[in-house]
Amino acid sequence: MKPIFIANWKMNLLLDDAFALINQMINSIKDESDLENIIIAPPLPYISILSKNYPQIKFAAQDVSFYKNFGSHTGEVSAKMIKNVGSSYTIIGHSERRANSSEANQIVKTKLENSIEAGITPILCVGESLESRKQKNHLNFIEDQLIKSLGNVQNIEHLIIAYEPVWAIGTKIIPTIAEIEEVVGKIKDIVGRSPVAKNIDLVYGGSVNSTNHQDILSAKDISGVLVGSASLDAKELVNMVQVR
Ligand code: PGA
Repeated sequence: MKPIFIANWKMNLLLDDAFALINQMINSIKDESDLENIIIAPPLPYISILSKNYPQIKFAAQDVSFYKNFGSHTGEVSAKMIKNVGSSYTIIGHSERRANSSEANQIVKTKLENSIEAGITPILCVGESLESRKQKNHLNFIEDQLIKSLGNVQNIEHLIIAYEPVWAIGTKIIPTIAEIEEVVGKIKDIVGRSPVAKNIDLVYGGSVNSTNHQDILSAKDISGVLVGSASLDAKELVNMVQVR
């Protein structure tokens, strides 16, 4: 199986830059089938036009509304709308949202349920803070976060869980392979206790780039990476996708 590459562009790039980056990426990738494993999460307003122009690439929203379908919720965009404009995935519970937008596990859980109902594959992010890692409480922290975020979800088609230690995001600090394997083993154990999804992919995110991605992809049970800042550089993205 080819690894999954999730490009989280966060709040970066104007639309022309987004087109330029994707064009550069497509022109540099030799094997067109490599594009099938790339999921790009651009700023929300770009999804519609990008997904129409690049049917060979998959797109994700970076977040989804807590509210369902339609209603008087100024500024909100529902999972149904995201799906309607060409996004088949959404990131949910990214640590930047948990920290900066006060997204508690309960909110993450509702977003997950809304996405599933709208036919969108969730990319659920979990990860411990530096403090919890230092206190050696990281496994308990992640278990709690995962169980509360998943709620009673059962038997969904596909779920992607991203292990993203908060202390590794944007810091150029990467956990050791043993540390990644320890947490991912724990996540596998938790989701293995009940039939959460028919197909579960576990990916790692946090300071991934073209110099460390191969090592990370060699970790047991890791089937992909979630890349932030390095995904804003077409060369980096192409190197990661082609050299594995
Ligand atoms: P980073 O971001 O690759 O820039 O560390 C990853 C993320 O926030 O998902």
